[in-house]
Amino acid sequence: MCEPSHFRIAYEINPWMRITNTVQEAEAAAQWQALHRTLVGLGVDVELVEPAAHVPDMVFTANAGVVAGKRFVPANFRFVERAPEAPLFSRWFADRGYEVLPIEGPRHWEGEGDVLVSNGSVFAASGTRTEPGALDRLDALLGLETVRLELVDPRFYHLDTCFLPLSAECAAYYPPAFSDASRARLEEAFDDLIEVPAEDALRFVCNALLVGRTVVMNTGAEWTARALEERGYECVATPTSEFIKAGGSVKCLVLTLDTFRDPPGVEPRRGDV
Ligand code: ARG
Repeated sequence: MCEPSHFRIAYEINPWMRITNTVQEAEAAAQWQALHRTLVGLGVDVELVEPAAHVPDMVFTANAGVVAGKRFVPANFRFVERAPEAPLFSRWFADRGYEVLPIEGPRHWEGEGDVLVSNGSVFAASGTRTEPGALDRLDALLGLETVRLELVDPRFYHLDTCFLPLSAECAAYYPPAFSDASRARLEEAFDDLIEVPAEDALRFVCNALLVGRTVVMNTGAEWTARALEERGYECVATPTSEFIKAGGSVKCLVLTLDTFRDPPGVEPRRGDV
């Protein structure tokens, strides 16, 4: 995670961002601290990367890249505004002994924002930020066979804004964010695919973080929270309204370092590294 010391709306690169929509600094700091506390309370070992003044979106560490064991594949940001984050994240990983493996060529992709791992299956999306060619490179680099999805709604511009894989059987998603073919692919991939209502999707409910059986999510998405609780998940809601001004919530604020680790008792499946 990255503290929001420099977080603000300095440019507009998604439909949520309005420069005139000022971030309340103290509130953003309190929300971030509450999320941090919640994760630590759930037993998550949280590491911090130092924020930098010229990159206000660096708080959204999910976009840094993808971690596979001791390898780090850095993102290649679509917008020049975020491009200067890449060397900062790469330095953090290199300093800690990770092998930094950039994907070759000028192909945009935005890390875990568009690549989500669940029980050994890897879902990867293009269409708004990430380019399919980058995912081909990622597959080759890490020996993956990612399940490809296409995003079609500019408000849900990263996969983690509209898709929440929970187990091999169950996932939540917002169908209108996906192309018809991608919807069909997800319906095929999951026995229990929860269609979240627009109201909850717009509250970034899919942008949640699964910690064991606990789903850490933004506040106010009651319908989805109940649907998850009926399936045996515990939902913990924590406010992220200041970060939604920039188009991000819980999941965007976290990059997972043990991305490819399967939960205990689950056999690794195709695509595991
Ligand atoms: N303002 C940031 C952007 O548009 C928000 C990133 C949200 N991150 C995410 N993983 N969905 O790039």
